[in-house]
Amino acid sequence: MPILEINDLSQRFGGLQALTDFNMTVGQREMVGLIGPNGAGKTTVFNLVSGFYTPTRGEIRFEGRNTSRLKPHQVTALGLARTFQNIRLWNDMSVLDNLRIAQYHWLGYGLADAVWRTRRYREREQRIEVKCREILEMMDLGEYAGELPKNLPYGLQRRVELARALSTNPRLLLLDEPAAGLNSADVDGLIRLIRWVNLEFKIAIWMIEHQMKVVMSLCQRLVVIDFGRTIASGTPQDIQNHPQVIKAYLGDVAL
Ligand SMILES: Nc1ncnc2c1ncn2[C@@H]1O[C@H](COP(=O)(O)OP(=O)(O)O)[C@@H](O)[C@H]1O
Ligand SMILES: [Mg+2]
Repeated sequence: MPILEINDLSQRFGGLQALTDFNMTVGQREMVGLIGPNGAGKTTVFNLVSGFYTPTRGEIRFEGRNTSRLKPHQVTALGLARTFQNIRLWNDMSVLDNLRIAQYHWLGYGLADAVWRTRRYREREQRIEVKCREILEMMDLGEYAGELPKNLPYGLQRRVELARALSTNPRLLLLDEPAAGLNSADVDGLIRLIRWVNLEFKIAIWMIEHQMKVVMSLCQRLVVIDFGRTIASGTPQDIQNHPQVIKAYLGDVAL
């Protein structure tokens, strides 16, 4: 069974048809890409899949279960995490707290217990902290646990966001333009990091990315959308030589 299955998904914002009859499957542990010009509807797809938008039409199934109408924290609790095109970290909390808070914020761990400071609560707090520190270590961020994200270089902030997503134990991770704003040395590091995350955490990764180098070296399959419609899908090689894709990108550049 695929981990994610999307059937005829459509989204309309007032008079704008942002996405039309979008279909997609993601296999267990697969790495796939979603590409297309600016405004094509890529982030809209991720906002639908992660519960930030409710689709106008169509169906999203995560591990066989219909998640089309669930809220973001419910989707996260089922095992789907994401990062954002523009980093969304809590800037006035330490890096460690960004990961800890995600456990309550998105996984809804017992807030009632927190009020009473029960022993069960304290033990769970401890477990959460140990786990979050472990993820930070794995991501080479251990030394920044006490720092505020806003004081870190941009590339590290991106890595913290990835660590936070991983701290919720996802089986599918959505990355929205993870290489945006990175210099070319950082992009090479990111490619290695994403490949390592895929193998180490044994999870599926679906990424939106403008930098062809990233998707070409990581993804087994790519889907291309333009004006909310799928114009091509296939292996990176198929896509590179696809006339309609070349035209969509040249059109974008010409703008
Ligand atoms: N919440 C929203 N309300 C109205 N229009 C939106 C909303 N989100 C996205 N759009 C519009 O949908 C289109 C696709 O946007 P988006 O999915 O962000 O594109 P991409 O990520 O491919 O650049 C754009 O025209 C955008 O302005
Ligand atoms: Mg986008």
